[in-house]
Amino acid sequence: MDYISNSLCCNYVEWETIEVEDLTEQNRKMKILIATEKPFAKRALDGIKEILAAAGYEVALLEKYTEKEELIAAVADVDGLIIRSDKVTAEVIEAAQNLKIVVRAGAGYDNVDLAAASARDIVVMNTPGQNSNAVAELAVALMIYMSRNRFTPGTGFELQGKTVGIHAYGNVGRLVARKAKALGMNVIAYDPFVTDRTLFDNDGVEPVGSVEELYAASDFLSLHIPATEQTKKSIGYKLMMSMPKGATLVNTARKEVIDEIGLEAAMTERTDLKYVTDIAPDDNSTMAAMFGNRFFATPKKMGAETAEANINAGLAAARQIVGYLQNGETRFQVNKKPCDCK
Ligand code: 3PG
Repeated sequence: MDYISNSLCCNYVEWETIEVEDLTEQNRKMKILIATEKPFAKRALDGIKEILAAAGYEVALLEKYTEKEELIAAVADVDGLIIRSDKVTAEVIEAAQNLKIVVRAGAGYDNVDLAAASARDIVVMNTPGQNSNAVAELAVALMIYMSRNRFTPGTGFELQGKTVGIHAYGNVGRLVARKAKALGMNVIAYDPFVTDRTLFDNDGVEPVGSVEELYAASDFLSLHIPATEQTKKSIGYKLMMSMPKGATLVNTARKEVIDEIGLEAAMTERTDLKYVTDIAPDDNSTMAAMFGNRFFATPKKMGAETAEANINAGLAAARQIVGYLQNGETRFQVNKKPCDCK
């Protein structure tokens, strides 16, 4: 072990056991990595860099990478990490020995291994609400696209007067509801976590008592549930089969919540049903071939792909990194220990 002295007095030298490594750590500039397989818009990136640099951090960038090994190598010496849908697995966390905080610039954090992060006391945050409007606009756009036969010649139908069911009434769900109301749609919703009915009343939305009731009454069903152990593969044959004639399932949430086998079976049996998604299913090419215009998946997830959403979520992520590293702010931490949640 290396030691340094705090006194140059020649008569009496008092040795302090301060490790040289500790001083190096104190003097080192903290390093923040922006790792986005799907890059931020330039204005967002410039803003993020500016906030981090102003706080005195070194900023590194890894964009459009194709192999997980690239991310593993890039995190080796970083203190903070900003990501989008990038997968922060236990392997990535293991490779990031200085890591203190991960901020997912967006809503869903199913791409981060929370258990592995918590085991190392690494704080994980999201930026709730920051990209919601972009996703909500896309959900409405997908409804129109499908109701107009994917813009191929032929008679379509209008959204006005139809019923849209909002499955999960969080930030995105609420925005879809408001836009749908403006289009003259009847809006119903189901969210077991919303216990205050005034939230629905204020938006002119009718809450229903069960997920079954929601699907059975929805001409369009807009999905906004997160991918959790409870929700994975929870939307399939039974719910699809219960939907009204000509109904469309709109997925701007996660592909994992769909039971693809059940969905395919329902769409095969009911040739009036449609599925539109912003997250291509595993069985994408088969479904495209099987269902023609009744199915559409965007080529790459684009719900949050607007300059505004990138700027809102990216800058929030940078500010949250600074807020945590400098002041210990943990408002948006998603892996708080139960005893921390006061
Ligand atoms: C989210 O969870 O915020 C959305 O799915 C957007 O994800 P993205 O940043 O990877 O586009």
